[in-house]
Amino acid sequence: MKRLAVLASGHGTNLQTIINNVKKGSIKADLVLVISDQEKAFALKRAQRAGIPTLYADPKRFAGRSAYDAYLVKALKKARVDYVILAGFMRILSPSFIRAYKNKILNIHPALLPAFKGVDVIQRAYRYGVKVTGVTVHFVDEKMDHGPVILQEPVPVSERESVAELEARIHQVEHRLYTQALQKLVTGRLRIKGRRVLSC
Ligand code: GRF
Repeated sequence: MKRLAVLASGHGTNLQTIINNVKKGSIKADLVLVISDQEKAFALKRAQRAGIPTLYADPKRFAGRSAYDAYLVKALKKARVDYVILAGFMRILSPSFIRAYKNKILNIHPALLPAFKGVDVIQRAYRYGVKVTGVTVHFVDEKMDHGPVILQEPVPVSERESVAELEARIHQVEHRLYTQALQKLVTGRLRIKGRRVLSC
């Protein structure tokens, strides 16, 4: 079975979904490590409760991004991780990290890329007044929110809903879409052809 690590900075609802689905067998993989750059991240608590090894790595203790990322890669290699799953990890990975796990890092983004890259994405899309936004699962490359797209799903924006309501609906789609993408990944059903990901 493939070995997964999840990197998360925040609340960890995507992590929780991955934990639940690994347990149920809907994602046929082992979740072997959860890493956070935030000591208080609720994601760490969720992992501890599920009995998954955790690592809190404080960026302030390192000389810079590449030293920090080298430390993370070392921990991932030590845990014999096959795939790195970003789930609300609020840091840009250095090129050397991405090279160490080339085409083996996934991210989930709460918009239809290439629209609304970056942070505060749901709020920005709502304020922009889009009628459709959505969710993207993609491989991570050296540019932010840019790698080959694995799955996307549109989410229509209702004129009557608040940003909080939209956010809740987007999160629901995220949880379902990430599970689907991860199950395809760990069972070897994704092929990358240039920027295109073919799934079978
Ligand atoms: C999600 O909206 C994800 O798309 C983005 O960060 C958020 C993480 O949420 N990359 P959670 O910590 O999984 O609840």
